[in-house]
Amino acid sequence: MSKTAILELDGKRYEFPIFVGSENEVAIDVEKLRALTGAITLDPGFKNSGSCKSEITYLDGEEGILRYRGYSIEDLSANSNFLEVSYLVIFGELPTAKQLKDFETDIRKYTLVNEEMKGILDGFPKHAHPMGVLSSLTSALTAFNPKVVNVESEKDMYDAVCKTMGKFLVIATWTYRKTKGYPLNYYDNTKGYVDNFMRLMFELPTEPYEIDPVIKNAIDKLFILHAEHEQNCSTSTVRMVGSSHAGLFASISAGVSALWGPLHGGANQAVLEMLEEIQNDGGDAEKYLDKAKDKNDPFRLMGFGHRVYKNFDPRARIIKKAADEVLAKLGVDDPILAIAKKLEERALEDEYFKSRSLYPNVDFYSGIIYRALGIPTEMFTVMFAIGRLPGWIAQWKEMRVNKEPIARPRQVYVGETLRSYKKMDDR
Ligand code: ACO
Repeated sequence: MSKTAILELDGKRYEFPIFVGSENEVAIDVEKLRALTGAITLDPGFKNSGSCKSEITYLDGEEGILRYRGYSIEDLSANSNFLEVSYLVIFGELPTAKQLKDFETDIRKYTLVNEEMKGILDGFPKHAHPMGVLSSLTSALTAFNPKVVNVESEKDMYDAVCKTMGKFLVIATWTYRKTKGYPLNYYDNTKGYVDNFMRLMFELPTEPYEIDPVIKNAIDKLFILHAEHEQNCSTSTVRMVGSSHAGLFASISAGVSALWGPLHGGANQAVLEMLEEIQNDGGDAEKYLDKAKDKNDPFRLMGFGHRVYKNFDPRARIIKKAADEVLAKLGVDDPILAIAKKLEERALEDEYFKSRSLYPNVDFYSGIIYRALGIPTEMFTVMFAIGRLPGWIAQWKEMRVNKEPIARPRQVYVGETLRSYKKMDDR
């Protein structure tokens, strides 16, 4: 591989350094492009632009590889648990037994959410979408935790991580309790993180609540699979907002909003809504495949395609297996699943989908599992947000520790050139 890339512009030759990542990803370093040539790059959707160097996640969309800090997603989902993976993603190494115990204990220091936050939650209508409520409540946490994190101090940073892990989980489950009109639950510091998620969500004061290990295991696995995914839309948002030195809660609140959209995390809800629509319309999967292929029809097959995976999403493989296990164990017989299976089978052999490398993504199966676990559709994207939290934290932390500059892309202006103000009567 040559060490520089040559650009010829207006008869002049410019050399730009080549940067090669630890997995041999090749990047042309154009940091000095505008200063040297006066030109900028144009790359809508950033399909070809690396916004940073990162040590957190390696993803190869062509080969279907996903690794957190060098560990494969298959290895982690088979052997680890969500809290351990969170530690790995955020701090870079698998924790020792003591580090993990301390991490759990330190998170517990922050699991009480200020009671005044309940007043803010009360202000939302019951039918408000949980993602909108979650974004607002996360932002509201800044009011109750105004101390600016000193990013130079490891201790300050560590405390901020634990605080965010503790409080975010609680408010995320509050968004569900609100929609149901249930009393809000408190975190139980004698129990684990995922156990707490389940109790915060589902335990009622009127009856005992037993945690089903099959369900808990599936949720833990789903959280691991969602924990980090390099520079996707919500993570880039977290980094971008944080690059102005906005705090961690403010940056994560923006990340939640970015995740909400149906082209990103909101796809898991959209998948289920699509399957229900197909069922209500007679269950004809073929009809909807044809709609997805019709360029005059805006309909897209939700849960298919991915910006970077042009092969099977490795997370989808693991979730599909977990979904099969959970459904078999719980004895779920859901007609929606038959439609999902049919769509999947047909799309995988269809020339339209094959030629565009459109495979089922993680959201195609996660929605199916969440439904089987009794999690309401509107909460699906909140589940994604809980899982993605360590990734957002890790990326924010990396960006601040590396002292990255404020993110400020350029544009190519294509509007009107200079014109004179026209008086009202002349318009
Ligand atoms: N159904 C039908 N056609 C599709 C689909 C789909 N789900 N996805 C892409 N295509 C087609 C496009 O129409 C386009 O066709 P063309 O080349 O004939 O014009 C081609 O495939 C390429 O599509 P793009 O939109 O250019 O691909 P891009 O990488 O920009 O989009 C995206 C990726 C947004 C995920 C897209 O595949 C999509 O909308 N999928 C459905 C939503 C979804 O499942 N999102 C979840 C993503 S995973 C996540 O966020 C965790």
